[in-house]
Amino acid sequence: MISERPFSQACENNKGPILSVLREHCQAPGTLLEIGAGTGQHAAWLSGQLPHLTWQPSDVAENLPVVRQWLEEPDSKALAPIVLDVGRTWPDQRFDYLYTANTFHIMSRELVTSCIEEGCRHLTPNGRFLIYGPFRINGRYTSDSNAAFESWLKDIDPLRGIRDKEWIEEEFARHGRRMIGEYDLPANNMMLVFE
Ligand SMILES: C[S@@+](CC[C@H](N)C(=O)[O-])C[C@H]1O[C@@H](n2cnc3c(N)ncnc32)[C@H](O)[C@@H]1O
Repeated sequence: MISERPFSQACENNKGPILSVLREHCQAPGTLLEIGAGTGQHAAWLSGQLPHLTWQPSDVAENLPVVRQWLEEPDSKALAPIVLDVGRTWPDQRFDYLYTANTFHIMSRELVTSCIEEGCRHLTPNGRFLIYGPFRINGRYTSDSNAAFESWLKDIDPLRGIRDKEWIEEEFARHGRRMIGEYDLPANNMMLVFE
């Protein structure tokens, strides 16, 4: 255990519920691209729990040293992380699964649009895109704490914000993908699954 590395308590809390959805939707062996891996905690733990998947973590370049530290965990089965800025660089490869957690409220709407568009282009025809985080439903926050979270996000950067689930569905529909699952998970977060 490397004590100095960044640690996210939220990742420890949500990794179990996230795993249960991944188990349901990522049953066939394949390659999974994780976008915005953050600390790398999800990559390190989830890859060990899902050894039939080739887990490819990614993030913007400045974040990769942190991800690498977490991938030193003995149970990690993840590949070395790659640079992926959703607005710029994408690998020249298609993936069976795309997974991203807590990124759509950090990226601007424009970047979310790029992430969905490029993500769909980099998915196999029957591939699945799984998105975890807080969402608004029918223009409403799902909790008071999410409303407070959004105002905190916008104080940091007005381009940040909790996205509407219906808008995300529309963006996927433009690329011929539809939502096949939506899960209410703890702490007022959701997992949306597109195919
Ligand atoms: C709140 S963190 C979430 C990290 C991790 N997935 C988690 O659940 O804890 C947001 C992540 O999005 C990444 N990110 C922000 N802008 C990005 C972009 N343009 N392309 C790819 N990743 C981006 C950040 O580097 C960061 O790792």
